[in-house]
Amino acid sequence: MRYVTIEKVEPGMILAKSVFDEADRVLLGAASVLTIDFIEKLSIRGFQGLYIDDEISKGINIEETISVELRNRGVRSLRECNIDESLEVAKCIVDQIINSNTLSLDLVDLRTFDDYTFRHSVNVAVLCTIIGMGMSLKQKDLVDLCAAAIFHDLGKLQIPDEILNKPAKLTDDEYNVMKEHPILSYNLLKDRWDISARTKVGVLYHHENEDGSGYPSGLHSSQILLFAKIIHVADVYDALTAKRPYKKPYALSEAAEYLMAGYGAMFDKTVVDIFLKCVPIYPKGMEVVLSDGRKGIVVENTTHILRPVVRLMDGTQINLNDGIRYCNITLQADVEELELCFN
Ligand SMILES: [Fe+2]
Repeated sequence: MRYVTIEKVEPGMILAKSVFDEADRVLLGAASVLTIDFIEKLSIRGFQGLYIDDEISKGINIEETISVELRNRGVRSLRECNIDESLEVAKCIVDQIINSNTLSLDLVDLRTFDDYTFRHSVNVAVLCTIIGMGMSLKQKDLVDLCAAAIFHDLGKLQIPDEILNKPAKLTDDEYNVMKEHPILSYNLLKDRWDISARTKVGVLYHHENEDGSGYPSGLHSSQILLFAKIIHVADVYDALTAKRPYKKPYALSEAAEYLMAGYGAMFDKTVVDIFLKCVPIYPKGMEVVLSDGRKGIVVENTTHILRPVVRLMDGTQINLNDGIRYCNITLQADVEELELCFN
């Protein structure tokens, strides 16, 4: 199977993974043949891509990092602001990731515009757990970190919908309202005895920048706790790579460069470096363009994040990490225009 952006999905293609609506109902099941009508409806709902089965992608299997059921359970618990259930989900996410034999972050979450905030929070929880594992955190620490990530934007439920889902850049006044959300999230958790202080502090400070330019407190690097630094990186990465009504998604490689550009100013360098070791920039099944103009699909990742094994459209495979053999070939991000706009 392979990932195809919604703009490139064509009638007659066969869906490889089911897609769900914001109420977790199956909109279209795996193995369905796509029609113009389906494609248009999925595009209007905000799906940025689909997984397709075809000849060129035969044998490429892409596993979920966490199960679809758990992802949807997490989304549901957040939508209902059910803190007990969200805590359980955090434990299950860590369990599933720790017990997964083949840890893979290859699957792009198939999300719609409507459930952005909740799906984003579950994505950030998964990314944070992976970063935490890359830092060799113990399981109990991972659960506290994952819980902080799940809850980080919970306060957005209290932000007026016309600001939260405004299909354009926010005004200064609107942005000031939006900037309240870490405190609102923290306030929902602060009296819970069963949630650790570091989880609560991670939530409160997830928009603090290393150089003191963040919010709500303008903390500097040494004042920001590790959980907040990790959530900050995962949060921005997931926001950049998401399609929103007012912006195109960044390519994963562009988002990775954004994180690197923010070393020491927005982000903690160690956290970013570990993130880039753990999260594939060219995940399995992704369509790529080689610098010589040929197109292909990523078959698997190698020890070098920029040099995966690629299957070309004529079926031949090349390992870009194969010594000097392909050293003159690079991969290019297949994006048209980037526009930064996230909160
Ligand atoms: Fe946030």
